[in-house]
Amino acid sequence: MKHLISPMDLSVEETDALLALAGKMYDHPEQYAHLCEGKKLATCFYEPSTRTRLSFEAAMLNLGGSVLGFQSADSSSAAKGESVSDTIRVISYYADICAMRHPKEGAPLVASLHSGIPVINAGDGGHNHPTQTLTDLMTMKQLKGRLNNLTIGLCGDLKFGRTVHSLIKAMSRYEGIRFILISPEELKVPAYIREEVLDAGHIPYEEVSNLENAMPELDILYMTRVQRERFFNEEDYIRLKDTFLLDKKKLANAKDDMFILHPLPRVNEISVEVDDDPRAAYFRQAGYGVYVRMALIATLLDLA
Ligand code: CP
Repeated sequence: MKHLISPMDLSVEETDALLALAGKMYDHPEQYAHLCEGKKLATCFYEPSTRTRLSFEAAMLNLGGSVLGFQSADSSSAAKGESVSDTIRVISYYADICAMRHPKEGAPLVASLHSGIPVINAGDGGHNHPTQTLTDLMTMKQLKGRLNNLTIGLCGDLKFGRTVHSLIKAMSRYEGIRFILISPEELKVPAYIREEVLDAGHIPYEEVSNLENAMPELDILYMTRVQRERFFNEEDYIRLKDTFLLDKKKLANAKDDMFILHPLPRVNEISVEVDDDPRAAYFRQAGYGVYVRMALIATLLDLA
């Protein structure tokens, strides 16, 4: 039984193989249209989602399988007090694989320990979001042609941003990666990411608070939303939410072959005037998410 709870559950070789399969599925989706016939994906989402849930469902439908699930804690028996471990025991009788999003860090891991089917972490609190990371890696691979020798700027909420934490962990394993961490003081990456991932891996990084100064160096600019739902008080959120706004003026000094990624949803951090810039890749990125999830489902079901 295999699960995907953290991006580090996959070795670099397994990650590369999964991205290669996702690339084949992107190029020739018709060859995989019946791979999961008779199989069911359960999407158990205790927290809101558009891209992750719907791209998981699109992925399973593209593979010829079926989907079932719930999209909020309120519409499941969690509202009556049922535990995640009891829920997954039951879902194991109804589906072949489960994608779970939960506001509590570690909930998908707990589920995996009690599950009869593979569990995929579709985002747990401020902790990890491994399928977003696979999406980000596929986007970089498709657009830059490589996952090594890149200077990656991560901008915005680096403290609570689970996509940022997962991406740093995954990309730190490739050669020649350098991070520029762009955030206000209050939203810097957690100490455990700095110490256990960056420092331990001798990964070059800088922590800065000015986006424009960093811009000329970047091969990838990964913008993130300041997440209202992760703040303990509204005043801090209001004070910090508009710290960074990427507009055309700020892109003036960016490389021509830099790409702008964002896990989405966006709120204020990227002006809509940037959307037409050929370097704006965030909507294409959301599209690639379907293919990495197709590859992941097929791999975890041993059908690849
Ligand atoms: N990127 C991402 O996780 O988006 P959703 O919250 O819409 O799933």
